[in-house]
Amino acid sequence: MFFIIGLGLCDEKDITVRGFQAVKGATRVYLEAYTSILMVQKERLEVFYDKPLILADRDMVETQSDTILNKADVEDVALLVVGDPFGATTHTDIILRARALGIPTRVIHNASIMNAVGAAGLQLYQFGQTVSLVFFTETWKPDSFYDRIKENADLGLHTLVLLDIKVKEQSDENLARGRKIYEPPRYMSVPLAVRQLVEIESIRKEGVLGPEKTLAVALSRVGGGEEQRIVAGTLADLAAQPEDAFGEPLHSLVIVGKRLHHLEVEYAETFAVDRERWRDIAGNVYGCALD
Ligand SMILES: C[S@@+](CC[C@H](N)C(=O)[O-])C[C@H]1O[C@@H](n2cnc3c(N)ncnc32)[C@H](O)[C@@H]1O
Repeated sequence: MFFIIGLGLCDEKDITVRGFQAVKGATRVYLEAYTSILMVQKERLEVFYDKPLILADRDMVETQSDTILNKADVEDVALLVVGDPFGATTHTDIILRARALGIPTRVIHNASIMNAVGAAGLQLYQFGQTVSLVFFTETWKPDSFYDRIKENADLGLHTLVLLDIKVKEQSDENLARGRKIYEPPRYMSVPLAVRQLVEIESIRKEGVLGPEKTLAVALSRVGGGEEQRIVAGTLADLAAQPEDAFGEPLHSLVIVGKRLHHLEVEYAETFAVDRERWRDIAGNVYGCALD
């Protein structure tokens, strides 16, 4: 059997009992560590499971999946995925590959940023398409996220913006020279994300993201107990915060849609940089009826 097991969002203890049992019964356990990260190192998981874990990078999961699936028709093999196996990054490719090889598969679910974002007090029913924001370079600033945010905004819906992660990336030079030297991991922060959003607004000028008029909620280390941070405000408010206001990675951002319920305003107000401004924009710009 090939198991694909969600680990949840925080540490080794977020695995479900069902997931834990599957890990215990597996002869090989892989850890996918390039689309998201837990808040603890691999070694903590190994001690808790009393099992060695094999790190599976993008190349292994996407192009060498047969290595992972080897013998999974006669023994149990597990792939651990941070969050939920179908949360944001879907792992359908490897499941389809297993099926094609006649290997039985089972998915064990867990919490994902896709639902834990509800911690901000915004209703999951009111979210539109999720978008991903990648690190811009001097010459590469993909902006298709802007159209998706606009479509959501036109319907009054919130947008969950997932921020780029670069793990095991090679510099252009090392890539060109075929040197397997990797850059240190990078995780996009909320302030950088806000700067990139505002930069694209200044180019596209369609009025989707107004620094002083668009409400947003920044979330970091959701599910991480004391380390979780939620900060709400206008895009300008968030940009003005010191970098450490958002805590350690991973970070996400929600662009608040106009179909805003007063309970959402009241709940998220707890996290506002400036409560008065939060309510003022919610009432006067978003048109939310507040007491
Ligand atoms: C490509 S998604 C993978 C999501 C994962 N499979 C899941 O189900 O949660 C990774 C992105 O989600 C966001 N993210 C994941 N976990 C997070 C957390 N605990 N707190 C805040 N953002 C998180 C970050 O923006 C991160 O770069």
